[in-house]
Parts: sequence; C-alpha cells; structure tokens
Amino acid sequence: MVMADSRVVEIKNLTKSFEHLTVLEDISLHVQRAENLIVFGRSGEGKSVLLKCIIGLMAPDAGKIFINGNDIGKLSIKELNLVRKNIGFLFQGAALYDSMTVRENLAFPLKRHFPEMNEKQIDDKVKYTLELVSLEEAIDKMPSELSGGMKKRIGLARSIITDPELMLYDEPTTGLDPITTKEISELILNLQKKLNMTSIVVTHDLICAEIIADRAIFLKGAKIAFEGEIKQLTVSNDPFLRNFFSHELIKV
Ligand SMILES: Nc1ncnc2c1ncn2[C@@H]1O[C@H](COP(=O)(O)OP(=O)(O)OP(=O)(O)O)[C@@H](O)[C@H]1O
Ligand SMILES: [Mg+2]
Repeated sequence: MVMADSRVVEIKNLTKSFEHLTVLEDISLHVQRAENLIVFGRSGEGKSVLLKCIIGLMAPDAGKIFINGNDIGKLSIKELNLVRKNIGFLFQGAALYDSMTVRENLAFPLKRHFPEMNEKQIDDKVKYTLELVSLEEAIDKMPSELSGGMKKRIGLARSIITDPELMLYDEPTTGLDPITTKEISELILNLQKKLNMTSIVVTHDLICAEIIADRAIFLKGAKIAFEGEIKQLTVSNDPFLRNFFSHELIKV
C-alpha cells in the first residue's frame, strides 16, 4: 500500500447516480491531514452519499477516491478493511445498541477490529474514551437511561474508540438544542485536536460548522456549488447562500 502524504482524502471526478438521478457529478475535493472540512447542502443533495462513497460503502459510477494515497476502488477486500479500520463513521441518526450497556456498546468496535486485545485492555480503553467525552459515570447505564445529548456523546465515543485517523460525521448535532449542539461541536473540535484527526463533517447547522472548521463546501445540484471559508460563505451576496444561511440562523 502507498505511504501516507498530507492529503488524507482525495476525490477525483466522482460521479454517482441512482437510476436517472445524478446525485454527485464530477466532484473533486481533497482534505489535508488534521483539517476539518464541513459539507453543507440541503436535504437530498448527496451529502450522505458522498460520505458513503468515501468509506467504500457505495461504489462511484465514475471517478476515484484516494485515502492516504490508496485508490480504494483498486483495493482487495482485505486491504479495504485495513483502510476502513482507520476511518470512524458517525452515521446519520446513529443509534446505540439498545440491549447493551454503554460499556458493551463501546467495547463492540474494539472487539471487532482488535481481536488481540484482552478484557483489561478493552476496559481501560472504554474508560479512557468515556473520559474524553466526560461521561465516565454512564459506563453501566443502558441507552434508554441516557438523554439525547448523552447518546450523541456515547455514539461519538464509540466511533473514535478505535483511534481513527479520519472521522466522518453525518449530521452529528441534528435534533439537539443550541447549547448541546455547541457542546458536541466543541467536543468534536477538541477530540480532533487531541487525537490529531482529520474530519469531514456533514451538517446543516451553522453553529456546529463555525465551531468545528474553517473550510466548507456546499453541495447543490450534484456539484460543489461553493467552496471557501465559512465566514466568506455566510456573508456572500449570492441569493441562494443568503437564503440558506438566514434560515439556518432563524432555526437556531
Ligand atoms: N441507496 C440508494 N438508492 C437510491 N437512491 C438513493 C440511495 N441513497 C441515496 N439515494 C438518493 O440520493 C439522493 C441524495 O441522498 P443523500 O442521503 O445523500 O442526501 P443528503 O444530502 O444526505 O440529505 P439529508 O440532509 O436529508 O440527509 C436522494 O435523492 C436519495 O433519495
Ligand atoms: Mg444525509
């Protein structure tokens, strides 16, 4: 496999369609190591599809995706799994396993990805990761005993517990009140700094975006319609962007 350079993700001319619907058309994009990129876009514009292509859950119709210089379309299943081991994915609306305690929820990805770890190592890692999200006391609780914000934190802990180099977040703050949104966003930023992760964050939420990142892209009509610093996008005179962000501001 190719050695890592500073581009953790590089997308070249990605096109993805479903039947007659072209969701992504000729998208090119890169994300540098330790950078946080925000992906904005209205509902149905292909944000989740983009993340699924990056992690190899969906195959593009055309174009290439490189993770640390590896063309994921050319990897064997075994090699793809190795690449994926370094990627954390917080799925949109990610649920915890309801019948498992927080401890078991967090241990799950470790057992799957690191079968060589013993019980003590797993337990230590679970505790350490719960500390990172400030929820040590929730270790023996069931998901039903947690608030929505706590569930998000535990979900976040579960997706970073394997120490991914690249984190993909799909709407990490949806459904949370503005203060919890701020807390979760700050947590994402702190984790990124502490663990030196590279992140791609799909969100509608301007509070979340402004806390987490500088650079953003805006998906619209299957294309990257805008790209730049969030501050520039929010003060743009473009009627579409003004409309999008004014609604976001009213919402929060
Ligand atoms: N597996 C699939 N089969 C067919 N169509 C799909 C599939 N996945 C997504 N689509 C379509 O692709 C388009 C983009 O979907 P996607 O989930 O990426 O939107 P999104 O930008 O994430 O929206 P939201 O903000 O609502 O989550 C939608 O029209 C959706 O119906
Ligand atoms: Mg989505």
